[in-house]
Amino acid sequence: LPESLAIKSGHLYCGDVDTVQLAEKFGTPLYITNERHVIKNYRRFEAALKKYVDNVQLLYAAKANENPVLIQTLAREGAGADVFSLGELRAALEGGMPADKLLFNGSSKTQADLRAAVEHGIKISVDSVDELRQLDAITQELKKPVKIGFRINPEINVPTHPKIATGIKNSKFGIPAEMILDAYKEALACKYITPVGMHCHIGSQILEIEPFAIACGVMMKVAKEVTKLGVKLEFVDFGGGLGIPYHRGENPDKAPTPEEYAAAVMPVFVAACKEAGISPAFWVEPGRWMVGESTVLLTKVNSVKRVHKTFINVDAGFNLLIRPAMYDSWHEVIVANKADAPAKITATVTGPICETGDILAADRNLPETVTGDIVAVLDAGAYGYAMSSQYNSRPRCPEVLVNGDKAELMRRAETYEDMTATVVYPSWHRK
Ligand code: LLP
Repeated sequence: LPESLAIKSGHLYCGDVDTVQLAEKFGTPLYITNERHVIKNYRRFEAALKKYVDNVQLLYAAKANENPVLIQTLAREGAGADVFSLGELRAALEGGMPADKLLFNGSSKTQADLRAAVEHGIKISVDSVDELRQLDAITQELKKPVKIGFRINPEINVPTHPKIATGIKNSKFGIPAEMILDAYKEALACKYITPVGMHCHIGSQILEIEPFAIACGVMMKVAKEVTKLGVKLEFVDFGGGLGIPYHRGENPDKAPTPEEYAAAVMPVFVAACKEAGISPAFWVEPGRWMVGESTVLLTKVNSVKRVHKTFINVDAGFNLLIRPAMYDSWHEVIVANKADAPAKITATVTGPICETGDILAADRNLPETVTGDIVAVLDAGAYGYAMSSQYNSRPRCPEVLVNGDKAELMRRAETYEDMTATVVYPSWHRK
C-alpha cells in the first residue's frame, strides 16, 4: 500500500479516516487525498536535492491536480509551480504561490498567455523562435521586462508510454540543442527580454534514473555554451517525470526514489556548474511524484454481472479516471470494505460510460464482491481528477482532503445546473 493508506479492521483507511465511512458521508464516486502524504513527499524530494546544492526550487507541475487547495498545501511548504495555461496560472496564484516561483510552460501559447505572464512578472519557458518574436513585440508594447528560459529538446528516448515521452527527437516540445544557441543570441538582442534559464522535460512516469542523468548532461553542455554567449543563468529546470509504482502486490514496479534521482543527477549538475564557473538554481517540476500516491478514487458497485467473465460495474468510469483507457495504465483496486478478505474471484472493474474501453481494472483477483461494496482505485492523485470530464453528462464528483482524522471537501460535486450553465439557445430555438 502507498503510505497514504492503511488497512484497519478490514477497512481501507486514508490517514486516520475510514474510507468506507467517507463514501457513506460524501457519496460516491469520490476522490480522497491524504494531505500529510503530499507534504511528506514535498519535504523528502526537497531534502534529497538539498543534500547536494542549497539553491534548489521545486515547481509542482500543477497539471497533475490543479486544485488550489492542494497548491496552497505545497505553497506553504515553499513550492513554486509549472503552469501550462492561464487556468493553471490562476490556480497557482490563488493557492498563494509567489510569482517568482512560477514558470509558464507550453508549446502553443497564445498572445494572451504571454501578455498575462509579462504582466504578472512570471518567467516564461519559450518553446520556439516564433514565440520569442511575439513576446518581444508584446514586451515592447507594454514596455515591461520579462525573464525567460528556452525549452530544450534533449532528444532522449525514455522508457515510458509513447504518448508521454516528450524529450524524443520528433516530439512537439522544445528546440533541438543544435539550434538553441541562435535562439539565445536572438533573445539577448531583445530590449525587454532577458534569457536567464533553461528548461527541459523528457517525459512522464519514467521508472529508470539513467535518462534523467543523461538529460542533465545534455542540458549542462548547453548551459556552458550559452554562458559563453553572455547569458547569466539563474536557473536550469530539469522538468518532472519521476515515476511511481502503480503495480503493487506480488510483482511490484521498482520505482526510483528522489534520493536515487538526486544521487544520479546532482553530481552531473554540480560538476558541470563548477567546470563552467556558474551557479544557477536547480529547478525540478515533479507532478505525479508529489500527488500520485496520495489519492484514491472511491467508487460504489452498482451491479455484478457473471457471464463468460465477471464484471463489477461501478459508478466511476473514464469520465473520472481516464488513464487506464488512454494509456492502458494500471491502477491497483481494493474493495475498501473487505480490504483484508482473501481473493476469491477474477473480475473486471468497469465504469458507467457507454464505451467498451471504459475499464478501470481488467481481470483482477478480488474478494467476493456484491452490489453496494466500495472499490478504491489506488494512486489516482495525478492526472485523475485533472483529466476528468462530463462525458455522458455525468457531473464530476467531489474531492475530499484528509489530514490525520480530519476529512473535508476541497471541491464539491458538480450539479446538473453546473453542467448546463453554459448552454445558450440560439434565437430560433427560443419561444
Ligand atoms: N513539467 C512539464 C513541462 C510537463 O509537461 C510535465 C508533465 C511535468 C513537468 C510533470 O511530469 P510528472 O512529474 O508528473 O511526470 N496525463 C499523463 C501524464 C502527462 C504528463 C504531461 N506533462 C498520465 O496520466 O500519465
